[in-house]
Amino acid sequence: MSEVESLGTSTVKVDGLFAELDHLQTRFDEALRTASNAEALEQMRLTYLVRKGELAQFFKRLGELEASERPRVGERLNQLKNAFEAAFNEKSAALAKPKDEGDLIDLTLPGIRRRLGARHPLLQVVDEIKSIFVSMGFAIESGPEAELDYYNFEALNLPPDHPSRDMQDTFYLAIPGVESNKYLLRTHTSPVQIRTMEKHQPPVRIIAPGRVFRRDAPDATHSPIFHQCEGLCVDEGISFADLKGTLLTFAQKLFGPDMKIRFRPGFFPFTEPSAEYDFTCTICRGKGCRTCKNTGWIEISGAGMVHPAVYGFVNYDSERYTGYAWGMGADRLAMLKLGVEDIRMFFDNDVRFLRQF
Ligand code: DAH
Repeated sequence: MSEVESLGTSTVKVDGLFAELDHLQTRFDEALRTASNAEALEQMRLTYLVRKGELAQFFKRLGELEASERPRVGERLNQLKNAFEAAFNEKSAALAKPKDEGDLIDLTLPGIRRRLGARHPLLQVVDEIKSIFVSMGFAIESGPEAELDYYNFEALNLPPDHPSRDMQDTFYLAIPGVESNKYLLRTHTSPVQIRTMEKHQPPVRIIAPGRVFRRDAPDATHSPIFHQCEGLCVDEGISFADLKGTLLTFAQKLFGPDMKIRFRPGFFPFTEPSAEYDFTCTICRGKGCRTCKNTGWIEISGAGMVHPAVYGFVNYDSERYTGYAWGMGADRLAMLKLGVEDIRMFFDNDVRFLRQF
Protein backbone atom coordinates (compact mmCIF):
# COMPACT_ATOMS: atom_id res chain seq x y z
CA MET A 1 0.00 0.00 0.00
CA SER A 2 1.42 3.39 -0.99
CA GLU A 3 1.74 6.08 1.57
CA VAL A 4 -1.04 8.10 -0.08
CA GLU A 5 -3.38 5.10 -0.28
CA SER A 6 -2.81 4.07 3.28
CA LEU A 7 -3.27 7.65 4.42
CA GLY A 8 -6.53 7.84 2.43
CA THR A 9 -7.94 4.57 3.80
CA SER A 10 -7.02 5.56 7.31
CA THR A 11 -8.60 9.01 6.91
CA VAL A 12 -11.85 7.40 5.76
CA LYS A 13 -11.70 5.12 8.76
CA VAL A 14 -11.07 8.00 11.10
CA ASP A 15 -13.91 10.07 9.62
CA GLY A 16 -16.28 7.10 10.07
CA LEU A 17 -15.09 6.71 13.63
CA PHE A 18 -15.69 10.36 14.42
CA ALA A 19 -19.21 10.07 12.97
CA GLU A 20 -19.87 7.03 15.17
CA LEU A 21 -18.58 8.92 18.18
CA ASP A 22 -20.86 11.88 17.37
CA HIS A 23 -23.75 9.47 17.20
CA LEU A 24 -22.69 7.87 20.52
CA GLN A 25 -22.57 11.26 22.14
CA THR A 26 -26.05 12.13 20.86
CA ARG A 27 -27.48 8.90 22.25
CA PHE A 28 -25.66 9.36 25.54
CA ASP A 29 -26.88 12.95 25.92
CA GLU A 30 -30.46 11.98 25.13
CA ALA A 31 -30.40 9.02 27.53
CA LEU A 32 -28.97 11.21 30.27
CA ARG A 33 -31.55 13.91 29.67
CA THR A 34 -34.44 11.48 30.02
CA ALA A 35 -33.02 9.40 32.89
CA SER A 36 -35.34 10.21 35.76
CA ASN A 37 -34.30 7.81 38.47
CA ALA A 38 -31.43 5.79 39.89
CA GLU A 39 -32.30 2.66 37.89
CA ALA A 40 -32.17 4.51 34.59
CA LEU A 41 -28.81 5.97 35.56
CA GLU A 42 -27.44 2.59 36.49
CA GLN A 43 -28.57 1.24 33.13
CA MET A 44 -26.67 4.08 31.44
CA ARG A 45 -23.58 3.37 33.42
CA LEU A 46 -23.68 -0.25 32.30
CA THR A 47 -24.31 0.70 28.67
CA TYR A 48 -21.73 3.41 28.25
CA LEU A 49 -19.25 3.69 31.05
CA VAL A 50 -18.08 0.30 32.31
CA ARG A 51 -15.03 -1.56 31.02
CA LYS A 52 -17.16 -3.51 28.58
CA GLY A 53 -19.38 -0.53 27.75
CA GLU A 54 -19.75 1.18 24.36
CA LEU A 55 -17.14 3.84 24.96
CA ALA A 56 -14.53 1.28 26.00
CA GLN A 57 -15.10 -0.60 22.75
CA PHE A 58 -13.85 2.43 20.81
CA PHE A 59 -10.61 2.49 22.80
CA LYS A 60 -10.03 -1.10 21.71
CA ARG A 61 -10.45 -0.09 18.08
CA LEU A 62 -7.56 2.40 18.30
CA GLY A 63 -5.35 -0.50 17.31
CA GLU A 64 -7.01 -0.64 13.86
CA LEU A 65 -5.76 2.85 13.08
CA GLU A 66 -2.51 4.09 11.63
CA ALA A 67 -0.08 4.94 14.40
CA SER A 68 -0.07 8.55 13.22
CA GLU A 69 -3.86 8.80 13.59
CA ARG A 70 -4.09 7.29 17.04
CA PRO A 71 -3.21 10.42 19.07
CA ARG A 72 -5.97 12.48 17.40
CA VAL A 73 -8.59 9.82 17.91
CA GLY A 74 -7.28 8.97 21.37
CA GLU A 75 -7.58 12.58 22.39
CA ARG A 76 -11.17 12.71 21.18
CA LEU A 77 -11.97 9.50 23.06
CA ASN A 78 -10.46 10.82 26.28
CA GLN A 79 -12.43 14.04 25.93
CA LEU A 80 -15.62 12.06 25.46
CA LYS A 81 -14.83 9.80 28.39
CA ASN A 82 -14.25 12.80 30.67
CA ALA A 83 -17.34 14.60 29.40
CA PHE A 84 -19.54 11.48 29.86
CA GLU A 85 -18.30 10.93 33.39
CA ALA A 86 -18.71 14.57 34.40
CA ALA A 87 -22.24 14.76 32.98
CA PHE A 88 -23.12 11.41 34.53
CA ASN A 89 -21.88 12.44 37.98
CA GLU A 90 -23.67 15.74 37.82
CA LYS A 91 -26.94 14.02 36.97
CA SER A 92 -26.47 11.43 39.74
CA ALA A 93 -26.00 14.21 42.27
CA ALA A 94 -29.02 16.09 40.98
CA LEU A 95 -31.22 13.00 41.18
CA ALA A 96 -30.04 12.19 44.71
CA LYS A 97 -31.05 15.66 45.94
CA PRO A 98 -34.77 16.07 46.69
CA LYS A 99 -36.40 18.74 44.54
CA ASP A 100 -38.56 20.02 47.40
CA GLU A 101 -40.05 19.00 50.75
CA GLY A 102 -42.69 16.98 49.00
CA ASP A 103 -40.07 14.44 47.94
CA LEU A 104 -38.97 13.97 51.56
CA ILE A 105 -42.24 13.94 53.46
CA ASP A 106 -45.29 11.93 52.62
CA LEU A 107 -47.88 14.56 53.37
CA THR A 108 -50.64 11.98 53.57
CA LEU A 109 -49.07 10.25 56.61
CA PRO A 110 -50.81 10.93 59.97
CA GLY A 111 -48.90 13.31 62.28
CA ILE A 112 -46.97 12.16 65.35
CA ARG A 113 -48.82 13.18 68.49
CA ARG A 114 -46.49 14.76 71.03
CA ARG A 115 -47.44 14.27 74.69
CA LEU A 116 -48.20 17.50 76.45
CA GLY A 117 -46.39 18.15 79.72
CA ALA A 118 -48.52 18.77 82.78
CA ARG A 119 -48.29 20.58 86.10
CA HIS A 120 -46.49 18.43 88.68
CA PRO A 121 -49.04 16.76 91.02
CA LEU A 122 -47.45 18.31 94.10
CA LEU A 123 -47.68 21.77 92.56
CA GLN A 124 -51.29 21.12 91.57
CA VAL A 125 -52.09 20.71 95.27
CA VAL A 126 -49.92 23.71 96.23
CA ASP A 127 -51.89 25.75 93.68
CA GLU A 128 -55.10 24.62 95.33
CA ILE A 129 -53.79 25.51 98.80
CA LYS A 130 -52.83 28.95 97.52
CA SER A 131 -56.17 29.64 95.89
CA ILE A 132 -58.07 28.60 99.05
CA PHE A 133 -56.09 31.05 101.19
CA VAL A 134 -56.28 33.77 98.55
CA SER A 135 -60.08 33.34 98.59
CA MET A 136 -59.89 33.93 102.36
CA GLY A 137 -58.01 37.21 101.93
CA PHE A 138 -54.38 36.08 102.30
CA ALA A 139 -51.64 37.42 100.05
CA ILE A 140 -48.80 35.23 98.77
CA GLU A 141 -45.26 36.01 99.92
CA SER A 142 -41.95 34.33 99.24
CA GLY A 143 -38.39 34.39 100.50
CA PRO A 144 -34.98 32.98 99.56
CA GLU A 145 -34.15 29.30 99.93
CA ALA A 146 -30.55 30.16 100.85
CA GLU A 147 -31.30 32.10 104.00
CA LEU A 148 -29.49 33.96 106.74
CA ASP A 149 -29.33 32.33 110.15
CA TYR A 150 -30.88 35.56 111.41
CA TYR A 151 -34.19 35.01 109.58
CA ASN A 152 -34.29 31.24 109.87
CA PHE A 153 -33.53 31.16 113.60
CA GLU A 154 -32.54 34.28 115.50
CA ALA A 155 -35.42 36.63 114.74
CA LEU A 156 -37.82 33.73 115.27
CA ASN A 157 -36.70 33.74 118.88
CA LEU A 158 -34.56 30.65 118.53
CA PRO A 159 -31.65 31.06 120.95
CA PRO A 160 -28.19 30.09 119.68
CA ASP A 161 -28.16 26.80 121.57
CA HIS A 162 -31.61 25.68 120.46
CA PRO A 163 -31.65 21.99 119.39
CA SER A 164 -33.20 22.71 115.97
CA ARG A 165 -30.03 24.60 114.99
CA ASP A 166 -28.20 21.33 115.37
CA MET A 167 -25.87 20.42 112.51
CA GLN A 168 -27.89 17.20 112.23
CA ASP A 169 -30.91 19.09 110.94
CA THR A 170 -29.58 22.08 109.07
CA PHE A 171 -27.61 22.35 105.84
CA TYR A 172 -25.18 25.19 106.47
CA LEU A 173 -23.59 26.87 103.49
CA ALA A 174 -19.82 27.18 103.51
CA ILE A 175 -18.99 30.43 101.73
CA PRO A 176 -15.31 31.41 101.41
CA GLY A 177 -14.58 34.53 103.39
CA VAL A 178 -17.89 34.42 105.27
CA GLU A 179 -18.12 33.30 108.89
CA SER A 180 -19.40 29.72 109.11
CA ASN A 181 -23.04 29.07 110.05
CA LYS A 182 -24.14 32.48 108.79
CA TYR A 183 -25.93 31.16 105.68
CA LEU A 184 -28.00 28.01 105.47
CA LEU A 185 -30.72 26.35 103.42
CA ARG A 186 -33.92 27.38 105.18
CA THR A 187 -35.27 24.59 107.36
CA HIS A 188 -38.82 25.98 107.31
CA THR A 189 -40.85 28.73 105.64
CA SER A 190 -41.15 30.69 108.91
CA PRO A 191 -38.34 33.16 107.98
CA VAL A 192 -40.76 34.66 105.43
CA GLN A 193 -42.83 35.84 108.42
CA ILE A 194 -39.91 37.99 109.56
CA ARG A 195 -39.11 39.28 106.09
CA THR A 196 -42.75 40.24 105.57
CA MET A 197 -43.13 42.01 108.92
CA GLU A 198 -39.87 43.91 108.32
CA LYS A 199 -41.42 45.36 105.17
CA HIS A 200 -45.03 45.93 106.22
CA GLN A 201 -46.74 47.23 109.34
CA PRO A 202 -50.00 45.48 110.33
CA PRO A 203 -52.51 44.49 109.16
CA VAL A 204 -50.62 41.60 107.59
CA ARG A 205 -52.25 38.47 106.28
CA ILE A 206 -49.99 36.24 104.17
CA ILE A 207 -49.12 32.70 103.25
CA ALA A 208 -45.64 31.65 102.13
CA PRO A 209 -45.48 28.36 100.25
CA GLY A 210 -42.04 27.07 99.35
CA ARG A 211 -39.22 24.57 99.44
CA VAL A 212 -37.38 23.75 102.65
CA PHE A 213 -34.36 21.59 103.45
CA ARG A 214 -33.34 19.29 106.28
CA ARG A 215 -30.66 16.71 106.81
CA ASP A 216 -33.14 13.84 106.97
CA ALA A 217 -32.52 10.36 105.60
CA PRO A 218 -35.14 9.77 102.89
CA ASP A 219 -37.92 7.28 103.60
CA ALA A 220 -41.63 7.05 102.81
CA THR A 221 -42.42 10.14 104.89
CA HIS A 222 -39.12 12.04 104.84
CA SER A 223 -37.20 13.82 102.13
CA PRO A 224 -34.24 16.21 102.56
CA ILE A 225 -36.13 18.59 100.29
CA PHE A 226 -39.80 19.11 101.02
CA HIS A 227 -42.46 21.81 100.95
CA GLN A 228 -44.24 23.89 103.51
CA CYS A 229 -46.84 26.60 103.49
CA GLU A 230 -46.42 29.18 106.20
CA GLY A 231 -49.28 31.40 107.33
CA LEU A 232 -49.26 34.66 109.28
CA CYS A 233 -51.98 37.07 110.31
CA VAL A 234 -51.28 40.12 112.52
CA ASP A 235 -53.70 42.92 113.35
CA GLU A 236 -55.46 44.49 116.31
CA GLY A 237 -57.64 42.09 118.27
CA ILE A 238 -56.59 38.82 116.59
CA SER A 239 -57.14 35.76 118.80
CA PHE A 240 -56.60 32.01 118.82
CA ALA A 241 -60.25 31.65 117.72
CA ASP A 242 -59.31 33.31 114.40
CA LEU A 243 -56.55 30.73 113.94
CA LYS A 244 -58.98 27.87 114.61
CA GLY A 245 -61.56 29.28 112.22
CA THR A 246 -58.96 29.81 109.48
CA LEU A 247 -57.51 26.31 109.66
CA LEU A 248 -60.95 24.66 109.93
CA THR A 249 -62.22 26.55 106.89
CA PHE A 250 -59.09 25.59 104.99
CA ALA A 251 -59.38 21.89 105.92
CA GLN A 252 -63.00 21.78 104.81
CA LYS A 253 -62.30 23.56 101.54
CA LEU A 254 -59.42 21.22 100.70
CA PHE A 255 -60.83 17.90 101.93
CA GLY A 256 -64.59 18.35 102.34
CA PRO A 257 -67.20 19.72 104.77
CA ASP A 258 -67.02 16.74 107.14
CA MET A 259 -63.44 17.65 108.18
CA LYS A 260 -62.68 18.53 111.77
CA ILE A 261 -59.47 19.90 113.29
CA ARG A 262 -57.98 19.48 116.74
CA PHE A 263 -55.20 21.24 118.62
CA ARG A 264 -52.77 19.69 121.09
CA PRO A 265 -50.38 21.61 123.33
CA GLY A 266 -47.00 22.13 121.66
CA PHE A 267 -43.88 24.25 121.81
CA PHE A 268 -42.33 26.58 119.28
CA PRO A 269 -40.04 29.44 120.33
CA PHE A 270 -41.80 31.85 117.96
CA THR A 271 -45.36 31.27 119.23
CA GLU A 272 -46.97 31.51 122.66
CA PRO A 273 -49.18 29.66 123.24
CA SER A 274 -48.12 27.02 120.71
CA ALA A 275 -50.02 24.02 119.45
CA GLU A 276 -49.73 21.05 117.16
CA TYR A 277 -52.80 20.57 115.02
CA ASP A 278 -54.40 17.57 113.33
CA PHE A 279 -57.02 17.08 110.62
CA THR A 280 -59.60 14.29 110.49
CA CYS A 281 -57.94 11.34 108.78
CA THR A 282 -58.74 11.78 105.10
CA ILE A 283 -58.47 8.05 104.40
CA CYS A 284 -60.99 6.68 106.93
CA ARG A 285 -62.76 10.00 107.57
CA GLY A 286 -62.11 9.59 111.32
CA LYS A 287 -63.11 5.97 111.83
CA GLY A 288 -59.54 4.74 112.37
CA CYS A 289 -57.23 3.04 109.88
CA ARG A 290 -53.61 2.10 109.25
CA THR A 291 -52.68 5.57 107.99
CA CYS A 292 -53.88 7.34 111.17
CA LYS A 293 -52.75 4.46 113.41
CA ASN A 294 -56.41 4.05 114.44
CA THR A 295 -56.63 7.50 116.00
CA GLY A 296 -58.88 9.00 113.33
CA TRP A 297 -56.52 12.02 113.15
CA ILE A 298 -53.62 13.02 110.95
CA GLU A 299 -50.88 15.29 112.28
CA ILE A 300 -50.41 18.34 110.04
CA SER A 301 -47.98 20.77 111.71
CA GLY A 302 -47.64 23.49 114.34
CA ALA A 303 -49.32 26.81 114.98
CA GLY A 304 -49.82 29.41 117.68
CA MET A 305 -50.00 33.07 118.62
CA VAL A 306 -46.95 35.05 117.51
CA HIS A 307 -44.52 35.45 120.43
CA PRO A 308 -44.11 39.07 121.57
CA ALA A 309 -40.33 38.62 121.38
CA VAL A 310 -40.66 38.15 117.60
CA TYR A 311 -42.42 41.54 117.34
CA GLY A 312 -39.34 43.04 118.98
CA PHE A 313 -37.21 41.99 115.99
CA VAL A 314 -39.50 43.65 113.44
CA ASN A 315 -40.53 46.78 115.34
CA TYR A 316 -44.15 45.86 115.82
CA ASP A 317 -45.95 47.28 118.84
CA SER A 318 -46.69 44.12 120.82
CA GLU A 319 -49.06 46.05 123.11
CA ARG A 320 -51.21 46.98 120.17
CA TYR A 321 -51.04 43.98 117.85
CA THR A 322 -51.60 40.27 118.18
CA GLY A 323 -51.41 37.62 115.53
CA TYR A 324 -51.37 33.94 114.73
CA ALA A 325 -49.09 31.84 112.60
CA TRP A 326 -49.02 28.28 111.34
CA GLY A 327 -46.91 25.92 109.33
CA MET A 328 -48.14 23.09 107.15
CA GLY A 329 -46.41 20.32 105.25
CA ALA A 330 -47.46 20.78 101.65
CA ASP A 331 -46.14 17.37 100.55
CA ARG A 332 -48.08 15.82 103.43
CA LEU A 333 -51.31 17.47 102.30
CA ALA A 334 -50.64 16.49 98.68
CA MET A 335 -50.06 12.86 99.68
CA LEU A 336 -53.38 12.82 101.53
CA LYS A 337 -55.22 14.62 98.76
CA LEU A 338 -53.86 12.40 95.96
CA GLY A 339 -53.54 9.12 97.87
CA VAL A 340 -49.76 8.95 97.42
CA GLU A 341 -48.09 6.77 100.03
CA ASP A 342 -44.43 7.63 99.53
CA ILE A 343 -43.18 11.25 99.51
CA ARG A 344 -40.19 10.24 97.36
CA MET A 345 -42.52 9.63 94.42
CA PHE A 346 -42.96 13.40 94.10
CA PHE A 347 -39.23 13.83 93.56
CA ASP A 348 -38.30 10.78 91.48
CA ASN A 349 -39.94 12.33 88.40
CA ASP A 350 -40.92 8.95 87.02
CA VAL A 351 -43.31 9.86 84.20
CA ARG A 352 -45.33 6.68 84.81
CA PHE A 353 -46.20 8.16 88.20
CA LEU A 354 -46.59 11.77 87.03
CA ARG A 355 -48.94 10.81 84.17
CA GLN A 356 -51.50 9.48 86.64
CA PHE A 357 -52.55 12.95 87.73
N1 DAH B 1 -41.79 26.18 111.37
C1 DAH B 1 -42.37 25.03 112.05
C2 DAH B 1 -41.75 23.74 111.50
O1 DAH B 1 -41.13 23.79 110.48
C3 DAH B 1 -43.84 24.97 111.85
C4 DAH B 1 -44.55 26.08 112.54
C5 DAH B 1 -44.96 25.96 113.83
C6 DAH B 1 -44.77 27.26 111.87
C7 DAH B 1 -45.63 26.95 114.46
C8 DAH B 1 -45.42 28.30 112.50
C9 DAH B 1 -45.84 28.13 113.82
O2 DAH B 1 -45.67 29.46 111.92
O3 DAH B 1 -46.50 29.14 114.43
O4 DAH B 1 -41.90 22.72 112.07
